Amino acid sequence: MQQAQAVRRSATAEAAASTTESSAASLASTAQVGSAVDSGIGSSSEYDQDNSGHHLLHAQDDTSDASTDEGYADSDASSFLSSILSEVRRGVEIEGRLYPSYGKHDYGMPIDEKELDRNDLQHHKYSLLLKDRLFVAPISEEQLNTGNSRILDLGTGTGIWAIDMADKFPHAEIIGVDIAATQPSFVPPNCVFEIDDVEEDWPYRQAHFDFVHGRDLMTAVRDWPRLISQAYTHLKPGGWIQLASTIPGALTDDDTIPPNSGYVEAGRLYYEVAQKMGAPLDAPRGWAEQMRSAGFSNVQDEVYKLPMGPWPRSKRLRTVGKLEQIMILDGGFEAYLLRGYTQVLGGRAEDLQIILALAKREVRDPNVHTYVHFHITYGQKPL
Ligand SMILES: C[S@@+](CC[C@H](N)C(=O)[O-])C[C@H]1O[C@@H](n2cnc3c(N)ncnc32)[C@H](O)[C@@H]1O
Repeated sequence: MQQAQAVRRSATAEAAASTTESSAASLASTAQVGSAVDSGIGSSSEYDQDNSGHHLLHAQDDTSDASTDEGYADSDASSFLSSILSEVRRGVEIEGRLYPSYGKHDYGMPIDEKELDRNDLQHHKYSLLLKDRLFVAPISEEQLNTGNSRILDLGTGTGIWAIDMADKFPHAEIIGVDIAATQPSFVPPNCVFEIDDVEEDWPYRQAHFDFVHGRDLMTAVRDWPRLISQAYTHLKPGGWIQLASTIPGALTDDDTIPPNSGYVEAGRLYYEVAQKMGAPLDAPRGWAEQMRSAGFSNVQDEVYKLPMGPWPRSKRLRTVGKLEQIMILDGGFEAYLLRGYTQVLGGRAEDLQIILALAKREVRDPNVHTYVHFHITYGQKPL
């Protein structure tokens, strides 16, 4: 994990300082790193589907390998690429933060350097919460480490999970996909990043992946049943899906949330924003049912208490709580709320800061013992 973060640090120093640079760097970099990974796009197989891939920026060198030919003429391909590139590069600046301009729907959170740091911190926090596991679905290491194992990470962000998986399973091929080019240039040879909107039709072969993973996709996905059903189509029989997300909303077991809590109000606003965006924050509670309806078996929910602040007795959970507290005090609230509060609810950024100042005071208060749920759901495509 340390290694993955160090990799991003060195790469993003130049690659992600601005959207323009990060897009260009990421797309250029993937030419170096992609050739070892077959993303299943456009190759002939009994599983082939329509691979027009109109929206996909496939971050691979396609000069030599017929399996990466997306099937359009060179000139069309280059004009397609430059028009999408400029769309990805542009980004949208709102109240001093940068948001992606690519994708079917607006995404509620920023993609600038501050947010990438937050994403990496989150990764360490979740790893600690899960006792150093990168996933909890009961997938055998053997299944993920054969020569033809393939793993897809949806909304990969900085790619930190994908990179750690690539290090842990050197014989697997990992694809991280995101609407923003915020991934590093230097990655393990079995890891590749692509720019795509996971709410569009996936351009991969059917029955191609062993594992489809998505974490913290709040305000990123509107249509979970469709996403889950696409995962089913593109998983091999016996393959697994795991979705995970924090469900915001302060909980306490010892009644320490004060009346008129600013923290509770911040959570209420976030729910309102997400609801209006069409991406409700309690969506994870519906995943298990949606997985069963899509055909998955062995579906399980696992819900973890994620403490806010270093109040738990266990040393491990105290550290988790400290990381959560740092994350929130160092811009987490703003990352969740700034775009939605100003653009969706029509509020003023200054007013939001007043609400958040109150919330942050509670977050620092050692007598307030709150937690949120970290919700994981996994299921297996029947053999
Ligand atoms: C909060 S970050 C989580 C990153 C990563 N999954 C992790 O846990 O470290 C969510 C990511 O989803 C990406 N995203 C949002 N909407 C998306 C979409 N429709 N398709 C692909 N990626 C999307 C964002 O650009 C962002 O990088």
